[in-house]
Amino acid sequence: MKKLLILTGILLLFLIISCNRTNEPNALLLDTGWKFKTGDDPAWATAAFNDSSWGTIDPKKIWEDQGYKGYDGFAWYRCTVLIRSSMKDETKMTDSLQILLGKIDDCDQVFLNGELIGENGKSIYTSSPASDGFIKTQGMWNVERRYVLAAGDPRIHWDKENLVAVRSYDQGGAGGMFGKTFKISMVGLGDHLKLDLTSTAFIFNGDSLVTKTFSATSLTGTEQLKGELAIEAIQSDNGICIYSERSIIDMTPHLKIEKTTSFRKSMSAPAILRVTFTEQVTRKTVTAEVEVPYLLTPASPATPRINGAKVFGVRPWSPFQYKVAATGQPPLKYSAADLPEGLAINPENGLITGSLKKKGDYLVRLTVENQLGYAERELKIVVGDLISLTPPMGWNSWNCWGLSVSDKKIRLSADAMKSSGLIDHGWSYINIDDGWEDTHDKNGNILPNSKFPNMAGLCNYVHSLGLKIGIYSSPGPRTCGGYEGSFGFEAKDAMNYASWGIDYLKYDWCSYGNTSPEPEPEQLKKPYKEMRHALRKANRDIHYSLCQYGMGDVWTWGAEVDGNSWRTTGDIEDTWESLSSIGFSQSKCSPSSAPGRWNDPDMLVVGYVGWGPALHYTRLTPGEQYTHITLWSLLAAPLLIGCDLEQLDPFTLNLLTNDEVLAVNQDPLGKQAIQLYKSDEYEVWARDLEDGSMAVGLFNKTEKPLNIPVEMKSLKIEGKWSMRDVWSQCDLGKVRGHFEMKTRPHGARMVVLSK
Ligand code: GAL
Repeated sequence: MKKLLILTGILLLFLIISCNRTNEPNALLLDTGWKFKTGDDPAWATAAFNDSSWGTIDPKKIWEDQGYKGYDGFAWYRCTVLIRSSMKDETKMTDSLQILLGKIDDCDQVFLNGELIGENGKSIYTSSPASDGFIKTQGMWNVERRYVLAAGDPRIHWDKENLVAVRSYDQGGAGGMFGKTFKISMVGLGDHLKLDLTSTAFIFNGDSLVTKTFSATSLTGTEQLKGELAIEAIQSDNGICIYSERSIIDMTPHLKIEKTTSFRKSMSAPAILRVTFTEQVTRKTVTAEVEVPYLLTPASPATPRINGAKVFGVRPWSPFQYKVAATGQPPLKYSAADLPEGLAINPENGLITGSLKKKGDYLVRLTVENQLGYAERELKIVVGDLISLTPPMGWNSWNCWGLSVSDKKIRLSADAMKSSGLIDHGWSYINIDDGWEDTHDKNGNILPNSKFPNMAGLCNYVHSLGLKIGIYSSPGPRTCGGYEGSFGFEAKDAMNYASWGIDYLKYDWCSYGNTSPEPEPEQLKKPYKEMRHALRKANRDIHYSLCQYGMGDVWTWGAEVDGNSWRTTGDIEDTWESLSSIGFSQSKCSPSSAPGRWNDPDMLVVGYVGWGPALHYTRLTPGEQYTHITLWSLLAAPLLIGCDLEQLDPFTLNLLTNDEVLAVNQDPLGKQAIQLYKSDEYEVWARDLEDGSMAVGLFNKTEKPLNIPVEMKSLKIEGKWSMRDVWSQCDLGKVRGHFEMKTRPHGARMVVLSK
């Protein structure tokens, strides 16, 4: 017994030590020392419970990556930590303690010493007994958990061991704690005053006036915050301050103030907007900075220009729909010479419809005219077995609306795709993600929920705008959002999708994992083959998008199950860490990319995103967003915009409408770029294009401007080549042997080299 006590003592000490490592004076790191168990028992919230038989877990990674593959349901995390009162010494504000627990997929309740202190991102301020009415709130998986308690709260045991217990529940897909910040600290000035410069977009008026609205929020429970607020705009290239403004702010607890500031700057020159609050008594400061967007895409000419895919695949007898994408001063008039029998073009909107019976290749000459001139281009129609001969370009509801998607939001997004002009640059799909499903009726037909009163009517509406429409399901009984999946109803579901007029299906693994927890390659393929079989019976070309996060190296067999694209990774987020770790790790799948078979590193995270009803402006800097679009174009990735199209800001629209960049993505050769050079500082990727030219991307991974050199022999080309900057659409003259380009922090350049 004594031995056991000593052992328990050592174990406890170890836990306390491992939970108390810190490199910040006022913070206890909570990123190690966690115990873990699947299942659910209220006793696990209490400090008295002995968890010595539990496994250990790293809270920074989902449990799927740590030996709990395919587990959905309840699981508990426990960590013991000594909360020292000396933490209060160095802060002026000592009224609150915060516990930061990264993110939790999907939902959580957090207990301190057996008492409930918060759930699903909401602190429970008054001390209350543990409740078991756990609300499994959807859409919280991506929210940082920060639970705040008053310093005098009796649930905190100062200078004693405290037990933090997390009861988590996973609906499907990835599960449990993950993220970056796991710590306990006093709430300091920086936590008390939130300067939010990033959740709204910059507005550009005219050709040099920039306007920005930002907010300052007092998060204090009791204290008044008074001090000076300085706003400065600084040119990034030379550090010159081009604008400065100062004012005094005096904030009562919980007050949020909004400020709007305007200044002039060159639209193409990068700059920083910096806001500093200096607290009047302590002179302590809180600073926030944001990069002011710089526009690289020149305005489209007033004369007609034809954009979009140059090759289009269709199956015999399937309904045909191709929209000629073109810019130019309206009205535009569209025509097509040598259209095969069975097709017709609408001269007013450039929509080609009909159907084709015979397999074969058809070359069509498109013409678009306006008062100022005309443009011509060839379109190759390939009637055969393969569709999606260029990567799909469109929009998907998930990254903005999450599960709050509705018929109304889809219609408004389709309207905005058209009215913003995105449609004129080749953007065509409007895809409904998870959250539209209800149940299967007694005849096995899937019923949409009350947010989607008329699916066929919605599809008609989207088609009438010249756009296509997509839908989402899971091979499992439940989708990742907990809605009804297709398990057992595959054939009926495919027939229903086709009868409504669906053009794209994203088929997401989610709860299928429960049917085969340790999937072998054949089991991974099985549900995808089954739905493929069902889709092929429908008289409709439906782009088949596999979503299973890259399991079993899906890129090596996605074509075998007739996928047109397949997700190669987990979900993307609007952070540099997420974007760069996904984007720069795609070279392993390069060889699999081909017309009709695309690697999909997940959707775009530009503009207003949010994964639920509340949206925020992307946390990516402008440079990072140029990297995103440049890299995804080189990767021949499906381009699915993930933002609220009704709130497209000038920068995002400019970013998404560069026809020369998009032409790299849509190049008919369909070859994904190869990673030619990789270091901690920079990367160079290049892809061959159909006309014999080569697109080269230069990526700066550092936080400073960088000159990136490219040796042309690494591109395996010799002699003199013409170089064109595709973002600025400017010729840069001839190069031979070697060239160098200046790149912005986390930014990118893209050139096309041609003989
Ligand atoms: C995830 C998927 C997301 C989204 C979500 C819907 O598994 O990766 O893109 O579709 O499910 O619940």
